[in-house]
Amino acid sequence: MTDFVKLTYGDKIYRLPVVVGSEGEKAIDISKLRQETGFITLDPGYANTGSCKSNITFMDGEKGILRYRGIPVEQLAEHSTFKETAYLLINGELPTQKQLNQFSVLLNDHSLVHEDMQFFYLNFPRASHPMGILSSMVNALRSFYPELQNLEEEINITVTRLLSKVRTMAAMSYKIARGHKVVYPRPDLMYCANFLNMMFDSPVRPYIIDEDVVKALNVFWILHADHEQNCSTSAVRLVGSARVNLYAAISAGIAALWGPLHGGANQAVIEMLTEIAETGGNIKPFIERAKDKNDPFRLMGFGHRVYKTYDPRAKIMKKMCDKLLSKFNIHDPLLDLAQELEAVALKEDYFIEHNLYPNVDFYSGIVLRAIGIPTNMFTVMFAIGRLPGWIAQWKESMDDPHWKLGRPRQIYTGPLERGYVPIHHR
Ligand code: SDX
Repeated sequence: MTDFVKLTYGDKIYRLPVVVGSEGEKAIDISKLRQETGFITLDPGYANTGSCKSNITFMDGEKGILRYRGIPVEQLAEHSTFKETAYLLINGELPTQKQLNQFSVLLNDHSLVHEDMQFFYLNFPRASHPMGILSSMVNALRSFYPELQNLEEEINITVTRLLSKVRTMAAMSYKIARGHKVVYPRPDLMYCANFLNMMFDSPVRPYIIDEDVVKALNVFWILHADHEQNCSTSAVRLVGSARVNLYAAISAGIAALWGPLHGGANQAVIEMLTEIAETGGNIKPFIERAKDKNDPFRLMGFGHRVYKTYDPRAKIMKKMCDKLLSKFNIHDPLLDLAQELEAVALKEDYFIEHNLYPNVDFYSGIVLRAIGIPTNMFTVMFAIGRLPGWIAQWKESMDDPHWKLGRPRQIYTGPLERGYVPIHHR
């Protein structure tokens, strides 16, 4: 039985239906609000606005819960692989062994990119940011592969093609930017090991695949795989709502993720920690700047629109730092700084009052440094991890009978009507 909220304005009372989610979340359905009341709602940053119903990811920001298709991310990080988690997000269920084998074959079959794509890379300025290159190259895939003819038949090929090639394209940008020989994907290597090999193998120094590093990369990408309607996923859904091809929609998601307030924060955290280290290691001035309302400086890797407690992914990432660094007997001074910064910040009234805790980006850069990923590739690593989530959300929106072209309204606050003034009268 549908519940309603009553909206009273003047002598009128409007009844708006209440929607309840499977975890008890409640929403007021305003899809007919303007038609019935003449009003729209206003919600900068959509902090209180749901764009869709979704079966993919559940987050509870107060309790620090994150589940993909109902499975807690902690269990997936411990027991699953990134490939299996990608299958779960996109198809809704964990794969059988047969389904996983078929998925692996498809990923292998589609891991190469057209040789002509190398000319694109060679014509980017050497200092180009890898996120700008990746967004362009994913968009360029449309030129090499036909439009989705039949969503159902084509989707598995197109989706798997994109999941597989994004690794190859990311590794190519790393090798070509350094003037190194491009390393091709190997059919005998699994998803994560193949990426590491493409990144770090070389004719003069063969890359030795370490199972702990492969596990760390699987966990890193599982933790990034989806996060409901975040900025970049909303960009994918909005651009996709115009019925543009999947590559263009994903390219828009990559562009949105690049921002330092979003996925670009993992690079910004390391740059912030490096600045602290290079200015003598005193964190107090940075904490004071973060608290100063007149200073646009933000403590990168802290705070979240949804989590008002510790980001569950940050907890796992922090444990992974300790494991990886002790495995390779690495002492990363930035980790000491990060832990000191966290300890001081979490005792500050400002951070307590604003519910500011470390988010997924705060420790992820330390993990990536330990693996050997360069700082300017950190957000590319986030993008590769988030790709199955973007694809799953795009697919869900394409299959949603109620999904239509995204087109928000506005409240106009500009000048009232006035006449054109010829230039000699201005
Ligand atoms: C990701 O949405 C997702 O799910 C994203 C993500 C995903 O997986 O897709 O989780 C990935 O993007 C994580 C977030 C990475 N970004 C950063 O680490 C950048 C630093 N963080 C902030 O910029 C900020 O916390 C945001 C952008 C993440 C969230 O900010 P909101 O929800 O828009 O809140 P806000 O900016 O309006 O801040 C609310 C208050 C403000 O103070 P008041 O004006 O109310 O007094 O909190 C303060 C802010 O000044 N604040 C911070 C702060 N974050 C918020 N103050 C200092 N340092 C910070 N980091």
